[in-house]
Amino acid sequence: MVVGEIKTLILGSTGMLGMELSKVFPDAITFSRSALDITNEDRVRLTIEGIKPDVVINAAAYTDVDECEDDRELAFNVNGRALEYISRSCSSAGATLVYYSTDYVFDGSKKEYFESDETNPINVYGQSKLMGEKNIIENMKDYRIIRTSWLFGLQGKNFVETMLRLSKEMDTVKVVNDQFGKPTYAVDLVHKTGEIIKLPPGIYHITNEGTCSWYEFAKAIIGNVAPCSTDEFPRKAKRPKYSILVNTKTEPMRHWKEALKAYLEER
Ligand SMILES: NC(=O)c1ccc[n+]([C@@H]2O[C@H](COP(=O)([O-])OP(=O)(O)OC[C@H]3O[C@@H](n4cnc5c(N)ncnc54)[C@H](OP(=O)(O)O)[C@@H]3O)[C@@H](O)[C@H]2O)c1
Repeated sequence: MVVGEIKTLILGSTGMLGMELSKVFPDAITFSRSALDITNEDRVRLTIEGIKPDVVINAAAYTDVDECEDDRELAFNVNGRALEYISRSCSSAGATLVYYSTDYVFDGSKKEYFESDETNPINVYGQSKLMGEKNIIENMKDYRIIRTSWLFGLQGKNFVETMLRLSKEMDTVKVVNDQFGKPTYAVDLVHKTGEIIKLPPGIYHITNEGTCSWYEFAKAIIGNVAPCSTDEFPRKAKRPKYSILVNTKTEPMRHWKEALKAYLEER
């Protein structure tokens, strides 16, 4: 890894966030899914306890929110159950664990969510990520659970790229204007992760600043967009109406509009 002599291990290194992590922590030992499937308990234990890293950053997850509804077993295995033995292995290896969680652990009945607020996920993805959080908290002490939302990054399928593609394919792109959250640039999140590793254990809410609806986010990316309601655009998984994460523990990151500008220039 990284900072001085710290030995870092990254799981899920070829995902959107994993790729950014691998760039920012170029000396990290990285594992893609094909190199280490985190549902393989024995291999996970042998790897973590064999390498004895100082920090394990888990960017591996089953992230397709609608598909999770159909494949609950896989969702709970990857996002939830795996965290029991990952955290136990981290504990015996003396490693700090970073786990990325989601705004979808909340039900959206409140407008804003603090780190200490009660969780109540309304879809399988959120339930499986919450199981991951709970397994970590029960099995180790030195963890950083970083809840984030609406991620966009240079190396992956994400909302910004989808909008840019649809904008070319359709006359008008309809986007929901009644779900609100905080877009987050993966590059900013990764830099913040480096800071959070040095902070005390706990749950952190990390997003870019500023709140918007998906429609407002889309409008900042493309011109041919029109608002619609969630009822007009039904999806398999329910989404919270509000999932605005409030960060009370670290310096705020830049506004999402500034981060989006940087992303659009970089891509
Ligand atoms: N994207 C968002 O908007 C968002 C919002 C809030 C929180 N998060 C959290 O942020 C983290 C990173 O998300 P992301 O957007 O980078 O997701 P992503 O692009 O889907 O990357 C996830 C990575 O995990 C790998 N993976 C899946 N199952 C695995 C397994 N059994 N063993 C090992 N690796 C496995 C995937 O490999 P394959 O590509 O081979 O399947 C992929 O490389 C996740 O914890 C996610 O829950 C994301």
